[in-house]
Order: sequence, then C-alpha cells, then structure tokens
Amino acid sequence: MDAMEPSSGADAGRRVVLFPLPYQGHLNPMLRLAAALHRRGLAIIVLHTDLQPLDPANHPTEYRFESLSADVPAELMASKDIARVVMDLNASFAAPFKDRVAALVADKESGGVDCVITDAVWFSAQAAAQELGVPSLGLFTNSAASFRTFMAYPTLIEKGYLPVQESKKDDPVPELPPFRVKDLERIDTSSLYDFASMVGNVVARARQASGLILNSFDAIEANNVNKIREELSIPVFAVGPLNKLSPSVVKTNLMPGGRECLDWLDTQAPGSVLYVSFGSIAAMDAPDFVELAWGLADSKRPFVWAVRPSLVRSRSLESAKLQLPDGLEEEIHGRGKIVYWAPQEEVLSHPAICAFLTHNGWNSTVESISQGVPMLCRPCFGDQFGTARYVCDFWKVGVEIGVVTQLRRGNIRAAIDKLMDDKQAKEYRDRAKDLKEMAEKCATKDGSSHRALVSLVDFIISF
Ligand code: UDX
Repeated sequence: MDAMEPSSGADAGRRVVLFPLPYQGHLNPMLRLAAALHRRGLAIIVLHTDLQPLDPANHPTEYRFESLSADVPAELMASKDIARVVMDLNASFAAPFKDRVAALVADKESGGVDCVITDAVWFSAQAAAQELGVPSLGLFTNSAASFRTFMAYPTLIEKGYLPVQESKKDDPVPELPPFRVKDLERIDTSSLYDFASMVGNVVARARQASGLILNSFDAIEANNVNKIREELSIPVFAVGPLNKLSPSVVKTNLMPGGRECLDWLDTQAPGSVLYVSFGSIAAMDAPDFVELAWGLADSKRPFVWAVRPSLVRSRSLESAKLQLPDGLEEEIHGRGKIVYWAPQEEVLSHPAICAFLTHNGWNSTVESISQGVPMLCRPCFGDQFGTARYVCDFWKVGVEIGVVTQLRRGNIRAAIDKLMDDKQAKEYRDRAKDLKEMAEKCATKDGSSHRALVSLVDFIISF
C-alpha cells in the first residue's frame, strides 16, 4: 500500500468536520490533512469562519464548505495582541460552531458527523464538540516542541524563566532542550499572563479530546512527540510533513498571485537563487526592511522576495520603499523578482532555489526541510524563536541572521555567503538533503507518518 491508497478497512462515507483557524499558517496544514483523509475515503465537511474566503473550486468537488458568521469587530483581526484575538475569536465562534455541528449531527439522512477535527487553538470548538458528545481531535499546527512549551507554561513561569529577563536570556532551559530562555514561546504584544491563559485553555481542551494530531515527524521530533504521548493520555498522531502526505499541492492561498516568479526561476541557474519570505503575519520595522534590501543587493545573488503589503510595520509598503536609497530598488529589481505572495511550495521545490531566508513559521520550516533547502533564520515572534534554534543548533540545516536586534546588511550578506557559497555551504546543503530524504521516508509506506495517518483513519472509523 502506498501513501495514496485507502487505509485498511477505510469506510467511505465516514463524515469528518474540519474547523481551521482563519490564518494562512493554520489553514494550510488543515486543508492538507483534509486532502490526506479524503484520499483515504473519508467525507470532508469544512466549516470555516466568514473572516476568510475559501474557494471550493480549488478543492475536490466532494468536499462540503460552510461558512460560519459571528459578530467580530474589524479592528480585532488587525490587533497585534494575539492572545486577545485568539480568546475573542474563541468566544465569538463557540456558539455558531456548536449550532452548526449540532445540526449536522441531527441530519442523519446525510450521514450525521463521525468526528470533528479543529485547530487545537479552537479550544471553545473542542469544548462544543465534547459537550455534543462528538469525538474530537485537535490539529496543532506548530511544532511538537511548541506544544511541549505550551504544556510546560505554568512551570516555566513558576521557575522564573518567563517573563524573559535580559540577564538570563542565554541560559539553557533543561526542561526543554535545546531551548535557551530567549527561545521560549511568547508574544511581546500580548501580556504574558493573557498568553499563558490562552495556552492553558488550549492544553486543557487537548487533554480532554479523543486525540491530538501533529504536523511533525519522527525524523525531526521523535523525542518531543514521545514526551507529549507520555504526558497526554490520548492517542497522538505525528502525520507530518503534511505537505508530503497530501496528494499534491493543495491550493489554500488567501492571497492571489505570484506565479510569474516560477517562469523567472526557470531562467535561473540550478541552485543559484535565494528565496525570501516572512510568511503571512510577521512584520518588520522600516529600518529592517531597508537593511534587508541592502543585504540582498550587496549579496549580488539572484533572489525571489515575497513582499506582502503588511510586511512593513505601521507604515505603508510604498512609503517604506521610498526610504530605499536612490537606485537600490532598480538594482534589486535587476537581480531579483519581487512578488506580493509566492506559490511557496512550488518555489521551494524549484531546482533554481539554493536557500530560504525565513521567519521560521512552522509551515515554512517543514516545507523547506521537506524540499531539502537550507535556511537563513530571522524569527519574529512566538514559536519561531524555538524553531530557529532547532534549525540552527539541532538539525544544523541553517544559520541565524539575528533575533530581536536590528538587522544589519553586513550580517545578512555574511549569512547568505555562509549558506550559499562558503566552504561550509556544502555541509548545510548535504544535511538538508539528508533531512529531506528522512522526511520522504517518514511519509512513504512503512514510514512513521504514513503509519500514523493509517492509524488516524482507523481511529476515526472506530468511532
Ligand atoms: C503562523 C506561525 O508563524 C506559525 O509558526 C504557526 O505554525 C502558524 O501561524 P505564518 O507566520 O504565516 O504562520 O508562517 P508559516 O507557518 O510559515 O505559514 C505560512 C504559509 O503560507 C506556508 O504554508 C507558506 O507556504 C505559505 N506562504 C507564505 C505562501 O504560500 N506564500 C508566501 O508568499 C508566504
């Protein structure tokens, strides 16, 4: 049986309701999971908030999409206080979600509902499913290390690691190796105690769920996955990398375009191009943007740079561009391709790509690993600090170009050289290639993730 065939005893028609969080980095793994489950004979109903448009035309015709509405003030989604946003979204969508699932359960003629899979951050939806007596699983879209940090949060505060003190920021955290104190997950725009409360809700509901699904895999996080298994008394399915487990590129982009960069990449030499992207949320100050532009120009290498309009904090991108010195924008355009949004999976798998300058969002990191592309790390918030630590110090497939402190063009250029043509570059590329092979092995027949997916489907069928 290969990764694309039905699971043992797959029972077509078992109905699974999926509920993604309305952010690109959460939507992508959920819809990839949907594709993998659908491929194994399960019927898919996607409930999504009306805060994000999803185009059914991009998905199998058998999927059913339903939009949920709630009274969410426009300014909430623009807020940088992530803990507040998550708490308020949970409060707003709990009732619409519960009502809709109750109606689907009651609709026996269409098959009812066998199981609900929500983003693990939708703790109120988990509670709703549990109250309705519907088996529920959470999909946690960050790393397993991040989930362990969530579980350890009360201890991390109790032991004084958090809030991070300047004098202790480089100390190791023996409870969560290889993290140092400064790598611990936090959101600087949210109060630590609000964040801790949000994290506490996620973990409490995950403990009461029927199971937990992780977009991770044994080759990179076996130890973390096992530690989670030991601590939770529910089944844990590590089915990553989900971009390899689903049949092909799943089209989930909330933003249009960027495909012209693929034609441009076709004109570039193999292994010559740097891909630069900061995911869908991270933002930088204008001086960092200018230094980054200089660093790319000074590197004298071809690049694809995804510059979405919200990339530069508190000012419009156009006004940030005006801060670029005369001629720099032309020089950049001469050597690189700038797009608002890149078709990232296809870019990373293009033979012209050599390295990825990334914010280390978990999806970007997993996508890079599964394409064998080494990383230049510039983590911006939350789980990204810890993920960069793993990339640089544990898997050793990347180099850091700076955390928290302001970017400097010289550092950027030096890091690009290190990863793209120094003597050491080959070592990074070789390790990235090895990790890619290990990721592929996990996702193919008898690999750990393939087996976990088969177990997950069997588990759902058993309800
Ligand atoms: C955030 C967090 O950073 C991340 O760690 C968490 O797991 C989910 O929420 P985000 O910052 O958007 O996500 O980054 P990331 O996890 O990398 O997800 C971004 C997704 O958008 C990736 O799947 C990536 O392929 C896609 N993307 C991003 C594009 O397709 N094109 C782009 O130009 C940028």
